Amino acid sequence: MAKHEWSGVSRSADETKEIGRAIGGAVEAGTLVLLIGQLGAGKTTLTQGLADGLGVTAYTKSPSFVLVNEYQGRLSLFHMDLYRIDDPAEAWELGLDDYLGSDGVLAVEWADRATSIFPDDRLEIRIEYLSDSERRLSATASGPVSAQALSGLPEGVGATE
Ligand SMILES: Nc1ncnc2c1ncn2[C@@H]1O[C@H](COP(=O)(O)OP(=O)(O)OP(=O)(O)O)[C@@H](O)[C@H]1O
Ligand SMILES: [Mg+2]
Repeated sequence: MAKHEWSGVSRSADETKEIGRAIGGAVEAGTLVLLIGQLGAGKTTLTQGLADGLGVTAYTKSPSFVLVNEYQGRLSLFHMDLYRIDDPAEAWELGLDDYLGSDGVLAVEWADRATSIFPDDRLEIRIEYLSDSERRLSATASGPVSAQALSGLPEGVGATE
């Protein structure tokens, strides 16, 4: 049976990227990844690993005024940042439904600003600050598509609890 939960402690930005890479290697088309965590938690860092795992060769940190970026890999990666939205409805105006209906993977930073609008099958990844270099990552898959994304995570990445 596919696993639905994974958690571990990352001890460096590289380790967080490695976790993202493992997810990127396993995700299937239509996967929604919700990233939740405070400023500087590591949401973008994890997304960079995800892009890498999808085979994206060029990835630049988005300028703050761009809310959605698209990257080409094994699947398209749409990277969205909801930090600046005031109302969940604004996420729709960014074309959220178009991305969800595409064959790509949608990764959303600050997804907790609009949780009510997302479909049920999603991979929620919470990143908690533990110290300057340590983060606790907790991932929960809520359906068959998102569960597939966790299948690439070996128990040995991070300190699995
Ligand atoms: N274990 C770790 N995992 C992830 N990032 C780490 C870790 N340890 C240190 N860092 C540092 O924390 C910062 C994380 O920044 P990042 O831009 O990924 O955060 P973010 O959650 O996207 O923030 P924002 O809400 O501003 O978009 C980076 O400078 C990274 O080097
Ligand atoms: Mg970020």
